[in-house]
Amino acid sequence: MAKIRTVHRCSECGSASPQWVGRCPGCDAWGTLVEEATGASERAGRGALGAGRVDGSGSTPVRLAELDLGAGAPFPTGIDELDRVLGGGLVPGSVTLVGGEPGIGKSTLLLQALAAMAGRGRRALLVSAEESAQQVGRRAARLGVDDPGLWLVSETTLAGVGAAIDAVKPQVLVVDSIQTIWDPELESTPGSVTQVRGCAHALAGLARDNNIAVLLVGHVTKDGALAGPRVLEHLVDTVISFDGDRHHALRLVRTVKHRFGATGELGLFEMTEDGLIGVPDPSGLFLGDRREGTPGSVVFPAMEGYRPLLVEIQALVADSDLPAPRRSVSGLDSNRLALLVAVLANRAGIHFARRDVYLSAVGGVRISEPGADLAICLALASAADNRPLPHDLVAIGEVGLGGELRQVAHTARRLAEASRLGFTRAVVPSSAPEGGPIQAVRATTLTDAITSVLRPGPGRVDDLALERRRKGASASR
Ligand code: TYD
Ligand code: MG
Repeated sequence: MAKIRTVHRCSECGSASPQWVGRCPGCDAWGTLVEEATGASERAGRGALGAGRVDGSGSTPVRLAELDLGAGAPFPTGIDELDRVLGGGLVPGSVTLVGGEPGIGKSTLLLQALAAMAGRGRRALLVSAEESAQQVGRRAARLGVDDPGLWLVSETTLAGVGAAIDAVKPQVLVVDSIQTIWDPELESTPGSVTQVRGCAHALAGLARDNNIAVLLVGHVTKDGALAGPRVLEHLVDTVISFDGDRHHALRLVRTVKHRFGATGELGLFEMTEDGLIGVPDPSGLFLGDRREGTPGSVVFPAMEGYRPLLVEIQALVADSDLPAPRRSVSGLDSNRLALLVAVLANRAGIHFARRDVYLSAVGGVRISEPGADLAICLALASAADNRPLPHDLVAIGEVGLGGELRQVAHTARRLAEASRLGFTRAVVPSSAPEGGPIQAVRATTLTDAITSVLRPGPGRVDDLALERRRKGASASR
């Protein structure tokens, strides 16, 4: 009998090495190599591959002109925020990986989506490999899901999933999760990279051959380390990430990879007692609890994908006895805060040397774009001065190391959204495009901007005061 040969495979990037080494030669991660039998994951998919098909997906060449293009059109899931991210819906025969931390709400979202599709007349099958049928049934009852077109099976083996597909003949299939499905034929333990990849490969074959839209759930930990989603990304057509701050109700859905459309679109949900509810007007949600006249608060019109999102940035500055004062950030980048604190000190004369600084983006979003620089600086300056900024003000702009302001993309769309929500003034870099529905307070440097909106007074650059004087003059005429 032939001896089983083994390789050592990285659980992060999937690259193989003939012997064990501490550091993966592919991605430089430490201690991630795991021994597996050679060719194991490839074997799993073999049986599932069908013969050549007329739609050009098989090995028989077809004339380009004769291809049936309608066959691959997406169908809506019926969950608007999900369809927005998917660019219309799910494509039959495709595989979508839904990645996210445990407990974030993946099972809830997919149960609701399956129910919505079943409600639109599609045969839907949920394979739960983590929970018993009763557990899923109880969740479904709580969510009020009971469509007769929705089938459920609690199953952990690949063969069992295949049998369930044969029995139900679904048009859409959810496997929750790919990490808990395994194939006893593979010489590897359940949950290992070999198993996860092998089973995903086989399921992709089943999806293609039976024209099923397949959704795979994959758990991701905070640092993205796991046997799963990372190594699956190239195997599937679409990768969706589902995240959010677990202490907030907000959940964000994004496409990371999408073979059938654009990535970067954002879907928003709120986790409630009744499951996930789409949030079509997120800015309203974020600004709902905002209080007027609080120092250190300003609104930044962020862009998430193609979607403007108004987010309140808050800063708090407190005297500190610590040798290294605290710099605490939530929802924003801590390196960016360090940089902006240095720019404020050196270019605008606002010092935080013996002061703790707390900075946060309210509502559980994460903002990483440099366009938030100006809003962050204004919030910090306002907190340092203990003087509120005008309540109807938004700020957009990148701050350079020299304290100069630079314009950012999509200014017009951001301002339109701010205007829609009742904001009347925007601090923008001088170079920002002219026009728009909102009064622009233009500034060339950070100092200009701070002076204009926070410390207006005689002898200073003061667009607002000038404006008021001009208006007053014309009124008295
Ligand atoms: P779940 O979908 O099980 O997360 P995942 O599959 O990503 O691990 O949902 C996890 C959390 O969502 C759970 O802690 C309870 C909460 N939840 C609600 O708040 N409302 C609901 O209607 C449901 C079903 C769950
Ligand atoms: Mg789950």
